[in-house]
Amino acid sequence: MADLQRLPPDAQSLDAIIDALESRGWGVFSNILPLDLATALAQRARSLGSYEQARVGRRRNRQVNTFVRRDSIAWIKGEHPLDQAWLTWADSLRLHINRSLMLGLVGFESHYAYYRPGTFYRRHLDAFRGDSNRVVSLVCYLNPSWQAADAGELVLYDPDADGRELGRFPPTLGTLAVYLSEVFPHEVLPTTADRFSLTGWFRSRSVLPVRNF
Ligand code: OGA
Ligand code: MN
Repeated sequence: MADLQRLPPDAQSLDAIIDALESRGWGVFSNILPLDLATALAQRARSLGSYEQARVGRRRNRQVNTFVRRDSIAWIKGEHPLDQAWLTWADSLRLHINRSLMLGLVGFESHYAYYRPGTFYRRHLDAFRGDSNRVVSLVCYLNPSWQAADAGELVLYDPDADGRELGRFPPTLGTLAVYLSEVFPHEVLPTTADRFSLTGWFRSRSVLPVRNF
């Protein structure tokens, strides 16, 4: 397990992510995470006892809304070596993005997500312009034997052409989806099998809360 923490994302993968972010703002890549790390994280996702029903809304208005989303999540606090390995991997990516694209990303927050059969997350944005400091979203999928019949694809939408799909992506082990949080609407189609993932956001420096003076 200790070895996993030292694995940096390989340079080619990083460059592919940078190119995608720079040229179109999103990308989905298979086998980006080292397979042994992805496999270990997939096992960990299944062993967690701390999933809670996910909420929607901002700050104090967060509430369960089963019309919008029905997944359960477990926030990463970073004590476990495998969580550390994921955070370390993500941090290498963050530094690479900062060096290449000057986005000034300063932090990362992340949770495991568990979609039971029949659950989904309807079309949404991960951040709202001026209201959040989430800049880049990452989703890493943790399902070793995903079948087409399991459904549960991520759908990314073109922000400029209402309803046009950019693609549908099955949540296969080791696949990583990356997109600009404020720009790309997306959804998780109803799954028919247990669907596990790690979702995370790179943040920019905090924006001031909107207030009425
Ligand atoms: C999210 C999300 C997409 C996915 O957690 O905000 O949109 O494919 N996840 O799990
Ligand atoms: Mn989302």
